[in-house]
Amino acid sequence: MSRRPLIAGNWKMHTTAQEAQQLAAAVVQAAAKAADRDVMIAPPFTALAAVSKTLSGSGVILGAQNVHWETQGAFTGEISGAMLQDLGCKMAIIGHSERRQVFGETDAMINSRIGGALQSGLVPVFCIGETLEQRDADQTLQVLENQVRAGLAGVELTDGAGLVVAYEPVWAIGTGKTATEMQAQEVHGFIRGLLGDIFEKNIAADMRILYGGSVKPENIDILMRQEDIDGALVGGAALNAKSFERIICFQ
Ligand code: PGA
Repeated sequence: MSRRPLIAGNWKMHTTAQEAQQLAAAVVQAAAKAADRDVMIAPPFTALAAVSKTLSGSGVILGAQNVHWETQGAFTGEISGAMLQDLGCKMAIIGHSERRQVFGETDAMINSRIGGALQSGLVPVFCIGETLEQRDADQTLQVLENQVRAGLAGVELTDGAGLVVAYEPVWAIGTGKTATEMQAQEVHGFIRGLLGDIFEKNIAADMRILYGGSVKPENIDILMRQEDIDGALVGGAALNAKSFERIICFQ
């Protein structure tokens, strides 16, 4: 079993195209110091074209923050996988808790988006996570199982590299609160077991499961030492070149 670590930066609604290029250039330099791992950045849609140029030839992966399931059509405000491919995107974040909670995206929509991404050759970074209320009510694993089963319904994969799962407890996103490494490992182990139920065991064994939610230079090392944590999806700390470099260079 060899899962190549993946450190992914979700820039959310930050950076103009010019700012994005500057930050991306710093990420390229940082990633060159850690060649044994993958690095992905997901700038806002408006900066993808500019950042794509900056990343050219570097090995840093370009990702999008969402993707629609159709290739084109009357879907105001949406972006298709074909459009993202055209700009050099290889991955797309789907089902982020901000999309679920603030924009009302349902499991069914997320399932369609995952299908659309796969259809257009993008690797989905499929986000799941429980709220604090759900954790306190001891519903964490049930909530995650429902999200995983609904999000992946009908999805077929030939290998584990075709999809990335990101576990992001909602209560840890942007709050400064991180799940302890033990809490995260418990959930990651559970998710891998579930994936082995849905797909074949070897696919689940090869699939990367990222942790997200207030990942920072201070906690990345211990998180990455957990057996089933294969990388991180980083928000706030990915906007600071120094912090993100330290996260990329986890030990
Ligand atoms: P955070 O965001 O690192 O700022 O908590 C993570 C995310 O939302 O992907």
